[in-house]
Amino acid sequence: SYNGLAKTPPMGWNSWNLFAGKIDDQTVRAIADAMVSSGMRDAGYIYVNIDDTWEGVRDANGNLQPNHKFPDMKALADYVHSKGLKLGIYSSPGPRTCAGYPGSYGHEEQDAKTFASWGIDYLKYDWCSAGMIYKDEQMQPVYQKMGAALQSTGRPIVFSLCQYGLDAVEKWGGQVGGNLWRTTGDIRDEWSSMIGNVEKQVPTAPYAGPGHWNDPDMLEIGNGHMSDDEYRTHMSLWALTAAPLLAGNDVRSMTAATKAILLNKEVIAVDQDPLGRQASPVKNGDLELWTKPLADGGVAVGEVNYSASAMKATINAGDLHLKGPVRKARDLWSHKDVKFTKGSYSAMVPPHGVLMLKVSAK
Ligand code: DGJ
Repeated sequence: SYNGLAKTPPMGWNSWNLFAGKIDDQTVRAIADAMVSSGMRDAGYIYVNIDDTWEGVRDANGNLQPNHKFPDMKALADYVHSKGLKLGIYSSPGPRTCAGYPGSYGHEEQDAKTFASWGIDYLKYDWCSAGMIYKDEQMQPVYQKMGAALQSTGRPIVFSLCQYGLDAVEKWGGQVGGNLWRTTGDIRDEWSSMIGNVEKQVPTAPYAGPGHWNDPDMLEIGNGHMSDDEYRTHMSLWALTAAPLLAGNDVRSMTAATKAILLNKEVIAVDQDPLGRQASPVKNGDLELWTKPLADGGVAVGEVNYSASAMKATINAGDLHLKGPVRKARDLWSHKDVKFTKGSYSAMVPPHGVLMLKVSAK
């Protein structure tokens, strides 16, 4: 991308997964407060992103107004900024958003200016009804138009392309100013959906890097329909694949387990590693090994148990391409150093769970 933003995958929160249409000014403020009091902000979750359903009508000059749920977007941005957070918003290149609200079609530059004038820091730009106006092959110039419009506002605004993996976006998303782009359809709060999304973006791995990331969609951690083991796997796979970490739960009321998962600093550090490599998997029966080279020469590894019973996972140093014998290995979920013996380390992994280590040769 050309805006110099998102050197590491964006982190924050987004309203869609849990609140959908039930999002308003008061709720966003309360979420911002909770991002601070829960420690989410200090762990790096900086963006508070309003998804679809905020849009109202255009005024006589064509300026897009928020609807009654958001009385004063500039005041809301000021509030969010006063908490040390950033505010994200949402639009569509089509005439209508997916939820049927006005999109930016025909008003791209005007809307970019409006967003900048409010103090917006992040735009998710969702294809939706653009599919009725344009052909899929026209996506590139359509996204380019908004990328350039955001750039010319002079305000740093992260640009998130949301086109559900259509049209090999990973090959051009960065060139049109995108900092991240969706590689899949919408995630649901269930194991098969979460795993399906992360598996689907495996071929896109070469295109991830500082400033431009593949996006397997937002987190469902804490939304209640997966087990905590499954949520630990969700967090581990998003970190290993350098995915954006956008929490999608109610951060005002998190269980201790949800908090421990979202706030695991050692796993977050894997996601935010400055090298920006996206892990790729090697499948071995019911176990799948994901390895991610890190900037300091170490390797983050996750061995995922796809089966419905506990399994013994073994990590072999020979599979990690380290520059020497293992000198340090750490379990990033138990937060304990572990020992490789004769070049390998084994542990039991619960159903749909993960063994996640950082391994170094120095
Ligand atoms: C489709 C996107 O994929 C979702 O993440 C969400 O933004 C909805 N549209 C909103 O309508």
